[in-house]
Amino acid sequence: PKTLSDLSLEYTERVSICSSPKIPILAEETPQGEYQRRGTSIAIEWGPEEDTRKACQSKGKTEVECQNYIRVLLINGKKIFACGTNAFSPTCTNRQLGNLSHVLDKINGVARCPYDPRHNSTAVITSRGELYAATVIDFSGRDPAIYRSLGNGPPLRTAQYNSKWLNEPNFISAYDIGLFVYFFFRENAVEHDCGKTIYARIGRVCKSDIGGRFLLEDTWTTFMKARLNCSRSGEIPFYYNELQSTFYLPEQDLIYGIFTTNVNSIAASAVCAYNLSAITQAFNGPFRYQENPRSTWLPASNPIPNFQCGSLGDHGPNENLTERSLQDAQRFFLMNDVVQPVTVNPLVTHDNMRFSKLVVDIVQGRDTLYHVMYIGTEHGTILKTLSSETKSLRGCYLEELQLLPPGKQEPIRSLQILHSDRSLFVGLNGMVLKIPLERCFSYKTEQSCLGVRDPYCGWDLRKRRCTTIEDSSNMSLWSQNITECPVRNLTVDGEFGLWSPWQLCEHTDKEATGSCMCRSRSCDCPAPRCGGRECAGARIEVANCSRNGGWTLWSSWAPCSTTCGIGFQVRQRSCSNPTPRYGGRVCVGQSREER
Ligand SMILES: *[C@@H]1O[C@H](CO)[C@@H](O)[C@H](O)[C@H]1NC(C)=O
Ligand SMILES: *[C@@H]1O[C@H](CO)[C@@H](O)[C@H](O)[C@H]1NC(C)=O
Ligand SMILES: *[C@@H]1O[C@H](CO)[C@@H](O)[C@H](O)[C@H]1NC(C)=O
Ligand SMILES: *[C@@H]1O[C@H](CO)[C@@H](O)[C@H](O)[C@H]1NC(C)=O
Ligand SMILES: *[C@@H]1O[C@H](CO)[C@@H](O)[C@H](O)[C@H]1NC(C)=O
Ligand SMILES: *[C@@H]1O[C@H](CO)[C@@H](O)[C@H](O)[C@H]1NC(C)=O
Ligand SMILES: *[C@@H]1O[C@H](CO)[C@@H](O)[C@H](O)[C@H]1NC(C)=O
Ligand SMILES: *[C@@H]1O[C@H](CO)[C@@H](O)[C@H](O)[C@H]1NC(C)=O
Ligand SMILES: *[C@@H]1O[C@H](CO)[C@@H](O)[C@H](O)[C@H]1NC(C)=O
Repeated sequence: PKTLSDLSLEYTERVSICSSPKIPILAEETPQGEYQRRGTSIAIEWGPEEDTRKACQSKGKTEVECQNYIRVLLINGKKIFACGTNAFSPTCTNRQLGNLSHVLDKINGVARCPYDPRHNSTAVITSRGELYAATVIDFSGRDPAIYRSLGNGPPLRTAQYNSKWLNEPNFISAYDIGLFVYFFFRENAVEHDCGKTIYARIGRVCKSDIGGRFLLEDTWTTFMKARLNCSRSGEIPFYYNELQSTFYLPEQDLIYGIFTTNVNSIAASAVCAYNLSAITQAFNGPFRYQENPRSTWLPASNPIPNFQCGSLGDHGPNENLTERSLQDAQRFFLMNDVVQPVTVNPLVTHDNMRFSKLVVDIVQGRDTLYHVMYIGTEHGTILKTLSSETKSLRGCYLEELQLLPPGKQEPIRSLQILHSDRSLFVGLNGMVLKIPLERCFSYKTEQSCLGVRDPYCGWDLRKRRCTTIEDSSNMSLWSQNITECPVRNLTVDGEFGLWSPWQLCEHTDKEATGSCMCRSRSCDCPAPRCGGRECAGARIEVANCSRNGGWTLWSSWAPCSTTCGIGFQVRQRSCSNPTPRYGGRVCVGQSREER
């Protein structure tokens, strides 16, 4: 979050075109130049050099692929460490926090950042300044690795071209926790015998690992991985195997994950949470291994040396590594036990939808702490959801935030909470949005304030307003009623959208046709649903209709011009019954007659 405030992107907030309070925020796309003009050095350009770009295209890559996609962006003390694909020539820079244009140094990005922007990779920098990256480290993307570099330890990687260690992985996230660095990913399951299946995984390495000697040289001796179970229980459990995103709550030792079904099957998503003790338990359990390439994977029955990290002070786990234990380290990396989530069933499930990202906020309610999840979806909405120990409150959907105008869809790319600003930042393809975490003011009555069951809001009896706990006048006069999931009022009253522009339209006046200015609007912003009221008011407005002119009756004959001899008499009429208007026909004929 610190980065967000430091970068302090300017953003535009605007109520959607429907101007309905139910559709909260819609940001306008701002061209990148805008940021540059408004801030000092908020945005900087970092593209590939001309010859790098040409070399990339000469290898058959497209112009779009041969740009610089930032795939690593980390804070390291007072520096920002950023790596980009740089036209299939990965490059990293250290920049000064607060002045991004100040490049402190530039290093090779291979094994730190993928070549291809489509590859899913991750990286973390430890407090000792070591970079742990999980990415593919060759041009063709066939050599995935977990790689340590920088800092003081020797560079280490996972065994090369060993599909048992890593099998076409998609890396999701990495965390530096205690003696270990943990990696979350999904990959082809080596232990699954029949057909190709993807499993969600957690892997870990010891930070104190220094690699083997002769065997496993420059390679991890402490790499282990385990399957993550996120499933709906039943006679045959239904598995959500494809991990998409994680969120770590260090104070709770809890990791939330988003899991989906395979892209080629029916869309379904779930959120499961894992505590560190369940993870440690799986890693402390037996291994599962394969005797020879044709045999099945079985639990290791004889006791196996457990490759635990030494404490950071001593020489680490590798001090007494014998050839025998190095051979074991080569074979034993897959855990037999599966990491089980904190609850048997997922915290949240949703059919026909793919979740993409999540963040979790811990909210102080009146009587207890609540975990509020913000789940981004593939079509640009955010589901605000409760996660609670209490069974009746588990997975309550509190609110659905619609970020894009009706008809527009794109996945939420990133979510980040900035606590100091009480806001949620949302990254979409072309923009960053900021949404306040608390919107209690929008609940006007006590009934609606308590009825939404929003842990951020309570009814203040003295102020007679829906407020946050910080704004309450007196805790004992501030009430909440979070006893069950809110009833989603699906009844939606219809509201008119905007008027269309004025347009010419035709009208028939007896036999004659003419033209008018017309405009229309529809009751679709939103349309009424589930018995909601229809819009009240005109759907069509007509103005400035053309009118053909019409004669008045002839006046009576005026007196003759002479009393004797030849004289004449005049009578008149005018084209004013009615007068022609807005392009209507003028009257045909004489307006004056003589005799
Ligand atoms: C930022 O760094 C650039 C390049 O080193 C330097 O020219 C510029 O003066 C710096 N700006 C600030 C505000 O320090
Ligand atoms: C990376 O992950 C996304 C989201 O799960 C997926 O759509 C995409 O295909 C992955 N990229 C590769 C190269 O597998
Ligand atoms: C995953 O969890 C479900 C529900 O508890 C359980 O039925 C199933 O056996 C577990 N699967 C694995 C592989 O542990
Ligand atoms: C390594 O072996 C020596 C002597 O056998 C022993 O004193 C020491 O405790 C061992 N270190 C570790 C980390 O096991
Ligand atoms: C951690 O999760 C496991 C289930 O995987 C559960 O049995 C255990 O009680 C949890 N421990 C803590 C401290 O919450
Ligand atoms: C809060 O309200 C309670 C009950 O009305 C009262 O006893 C207490 O003095 C109030 N505290 C403050 C700080 O106003
Ligand atoms: C709290 O909600 C329950 C239903 O969940 C309802 O029966 C009760 O009347 C509510 N209490 C207040 C004070 O609104
Ligand atoms: C549900 O919403 C509709 C339209 O906003 C409103 O008229 C109705 O009173 C609401 N029902 C409840 C039970 O709150
Ligand atoms: C109708 O005519 C008036 C007067 O000529 C003009 O001010 C107005 O803009 C016209 N309205 C439309 C919708 O064209």
